[in-house]
Amino acid sequence: MSDVAAQIAALEDAGQNELAAALAGLSGGRRKKLSAQVAELDLGLIGSLVDRFVTAGEGEAALGEVTEAPTIPLPADAEAERAEADARSAGENLLRSDRVSAVLLAGGQGSRLGFDGPKGNYPFAPITARTLFSHHAAKIAALRERYGCSLPWYILTSPQNNDVTRASFEEAGWFGLDPDSIRFVIQGTLPAVDARTGAILREAPDRLALSPDGHGGLLSALRRSGALDEMSDSGITTMFTFQVDNPLVRVCRPEFLGYHAQAGADMSNTAVRKVAPEEKMGVVARVDGRPGVVEYSDLPDELAEMRNPDGELTYWAGSIAVHCIEVAFARSLTDGGLKLPYHRALKKVPHVGADGKQVTPDEPNAIKFETFLFDALPAADASITIEAAREDEFAPIKNADGVDSAESARLLLNDLYARWFEAAGLAVPRDADGAPPDLEIDPRFALDAAELAAKLPPGFVVDGPLALGLDEGPTTAR
Ligand code: UTP
Repeated sequence: MSDVAAQIAALEDAGQNELAAALAGLSGGRRKKLSAQVAELDLGLIGSLVDRFVTAGEGEAALGEVTEAPTIPLPADAEAERAEADARSAGENLLRSDRVSAVLLAGGQGSRLGFDGPKGNYPFAPITARTLFSHHAAKIAALRERYGCSLPWYILTSPQNNDVTRASFEEAGWFGLDPDSIRFVIQGTLPAVDARTGAILREAPDRLALSPDGHGGLLSALRRSGALDEMSDSGITTMFTFQVDNPLVRVCRPEFLGYHAQAGADMSNTAVRKVAPEEKMGVVARVDGRPGVVEYSDLPDELAEMRNPDGELTYWAGSIAVHCIEVAFARSLTDGGLKLPYHRALKKVPHVGADGKQVTPDEPNAIKFETFLFDALPAADASITIEAAREDEFAPIKNADGVDSAESARLLLNDLYARWFEAAGLAVPRDADGAPPDLEIDPRFALDAAELAAKLPPGFVVDGPLALGLDEGPTTAR
């Protein structure tokens, strides 16, 4: 029995008759191509997800009892400032002693942004049009320089975007970083299934409709690729994980690393204050007494809207998906297979029908399955959440326009850099709405306000748009 015959039998056993027939109906290169994808399918897992979400029509697991999570607020007095300074030096020690890696999540499809290519190649910067990857790379370079550390950089990609991501790093000369210090880790995929029948869908006659298995796929990808072993072998104990679409992220913020280490935490969170109860952000909370993040769509309205006597939202702590994760914790979670729950999302997935004709649905027709990284939190015996100043650390680029878009991120970045210049004693022109001109500062020139103040030449003036320390575009450093 040829491999393909065995695959056809296995698909039929699993109730995937449509795909079995499609494979049987192909020949030559196209059969080979589809067969190679079928070989990668975990039919047992897909079968159990279909049983649960399609056949039994179960929704997501019921939410447990939600209570507030303790958080470390922004320092408001001298004592808190001292605690923060202690945490900062603990975090800096971790960095200096080469115990930290930076892990960038860049395996998503970025469908809302509608940009052709990996989101990391999105040219977000208003003057130089530098890309998100270039900006993150400059932060990594600056941190390595500042702390004299190796800070290995792991980048999660998907089979769909890995080659083009890697090629863009090559083309960009690895953004000046040592190529050996960057490692791409490819996450797994899962096929979309028909929402009514559970049939595995094909996007072309010889190609499955596969998509990345969610950012929770990071953990198994790190394990499978040997990256966790590599980290342990080289003495890395802590991963700092961040998302590709937040150019404001303070990569490896020492205060966060330090609080996490001081608490002996397994996995920790960064949270910012939600702007409104209905803002679409997961909130950091305890669920049945365990650490967790509750997705915005799962948080009951009465909890989302609940306020403390001082008028603040009780569940204010919006997760910005910036975590510290212990390597040993990631290892324990992936021993004997990943133990994260799967979620379902109803989506419009164009596909080839059983009759071989292309179907372009008007309504959601398919289910995609994903795991989420924050679902690892309940397994953490110790976890801390640190509050971050929203305007300093969070500018998500999710949508083509409007809320959480390149435009909203541009305004936030301009504002951040304007505040840095002002803190250094410079005047920054602002328009009638208070908006400064377009400003860019290369993280290698200054990672924060203090570094900028120390490096600015005397007599420096900000009198219009400027890109400081960037050779890709104009600079007006004078
Ligand atoms: P989002 O959940 O915003 O998804 O990812 P997305 O794929 O970027 O965008 P949409 O929803 O299709 O518009 C948050 C972060 O997690 C990463 C993304 O690359 C982004 O940095 N991610 C998401 C992965 O690495 N893998 C995934 O499977 C999903």
